[in-house]
Amino acid sequence: MPYPEVMAESVKKVEATRERRLRETFPRLTPQEKKALLESYHPDYRSETFRPLAVGPNAGQKVPNELADLLEAFSRIDPDTFDLSRVDYETDVLIIGGGGAGTAAALTAQEAGTRVLIATKLRWGDANTIMAQGGIQAADKPNDSPVRHYLDVMGGGGFVNIPQLVWALVLDAPLVIRWLEQLGVMFDKEPDGTMITVHGGGTSRRRMHSCRDYTGMEIMRTLRDEARNRGIQALEFRPAVELLLDDAGNCVGAILYDLETEEYLVVRAKSVVLATGGMGRLHVQGFPTTNHYGATADGLVIAYRAGAEMIFMDTVQYHPTGAAFPEQILGQLVTEKVRGLGAHLVNCDGERFIYELETRDAVSAAIIRECTTVGKGVVTPTGMVGVWLDSPMIDLLRGEGTIRKALPAMVRQYERFGIDITKEPILVYPTQHYQNGGIVMKEDSSTSIPGLFVAGEVSGGVHGRNRLMGNSLLDILVFGRRAGVSAAQWAKAATLGTPTLRHVKEYHEQLIRAGINTDRISPLVLPDYTAPHTRIRRLGGVPVG
Ligand code: FUM
Repeated sequence: MPYPEVMAESVKKVEATRERRLRETFPRLTPQEKKALLESYHPDYRSETFRPLAVGPNAGQKVPNELADLLEAFSRIDPDTFDLSRVDYETDVLIIGGGGAGTAAALTAQEAGTRVLIATKLRWGDANTIMAQGGIQAADKPNDSPVRHYLDVMGGGGFVNIPQLVWALVLDAPLVIRWLEQLGVMFDKEPDGTMITVHGGGTSRRRMHSCRDYTGMEIMRTLRDEARNRGIQALEFRPAVELLLDDAGNCVGAILYDLETEEYLVVRAKSVVLATGGMGRLHVQGFPTTNHYGATADGLVIAYRAGAEMIFMDTVQYHPTGAAFPEQILGQLVTEKVRGLGAHLVNCDGERFIYELETRDAVSAAIIRECTTVGKGVVTPTGMVGVWLDSPMIDLLRGEGTIRKALPAMVRQYERFGIDITKEPILVYPTQHYQNGGIVMKEDSSTSIPGLFVAGEVSGGVHGRNRLMGNSLLDILVFGRRAGVSAAQWAKAATLGTPTLRHVKEYHEQLIRAGINTDRISPLVLPDYTAPHTRIRRLGGVPVG
């Protein structure tokens, strides 16, 4: 038994109820039950953890305090003294972000005949894309259709998603799968070549295509190889810290910060694609996170400062099954595919308390309820609490060997700590996973700032107030590809005006007028895990204001 004594008693109860649970079905939530559950237990309803923004296009609207701190902060750049006459790089399309969305955009922008340059904070491919495990949705089976996919996405998002964006998502989905296959992505298939597809939470059909449980890694590998083979250049370890707008308000490049030399660099471009990902590393409300080290909301911050409007930034996705034990992997993703393959969620007595494939917001809220009000969580020796995800059920339901075949990364993740997930359940608790909202965009990935395009998690509107599993990998590719085409079209027609940082100066003035007297600077660039006295020096920034 890999679990300490205080948890081992509970594992025995999980084992004792397994046979019975295998035969039982669990009722789905009614809409009324779901609403009540969310309102009482979902972290989005803890009003004290949000505040209305004082400045910018969304002034008066509430966002998580951790994000508000970054939006109500001063630039790393002094707009009065920064020398914009220098040009370190010049290109047609500048792509900020070297994850799946940025790399897909680079490929289509280059195909459209423009010069492309990627600038990325860490290494090319170090992004949330490679952390995506479970799969990518596409309605490409005979019993499915984009209309069904559309309805599922809308239902998952609370029916507030921007419909045109959802149509774009579901209509492009089958094409994206074919594109990925042509590029060399090795999807899971039956011996006859049929794609293996499973359910995710909130899906009415099995449409989750996967590459075992490292789908994002396989997709990123393929996209980056393709881009490298096509000679696309990427500036690594150079995050963008401000956008450049010309006299007419068009986006004409960015200022990068070289993490190695601590120099600022100017890139002039005819159009810009922002594909910087989300804010998972802000640890909203103190939650652990599944996210990549670079997910610090940088793109949101610089686009907002430039005048781009945001949508649904008052909602955060907590993945129901983050690791709660052992402590070394706290918050790391335990893919929804584990539930998609049949594993039950059970409390300390081995009893189910929620249908496992409800939408993520509801499952997370139910786990929080079970561990708080109901008091049937399992407490670890260090005081963490969680519920069991009964993974061994998968082999019982689908035949021995299924877990090792379908979930090799999960098996390895736990084997390192002596836990055999084919035999023992896993302790889980919700973890910050995804930014449901972002910068408002249209179907062609354009924003309210001419020449600025967005794709992936930095953008908002597609997923409404709650994204479904497998629609993030889809989103980055659908809108990454669209952003590349649109940015290339824009670049071909654009004439470059003189770059300015007037928007930064005006934003600073708004902050001062709003009485925001702070030494906070943003974007954050790297997560904030150090003591305050080391922070400023480490990031090379100078507090302003
Ligand atoms: O659970 C997962 O594998 C996560 C997938 C997603 O967020 O789309």
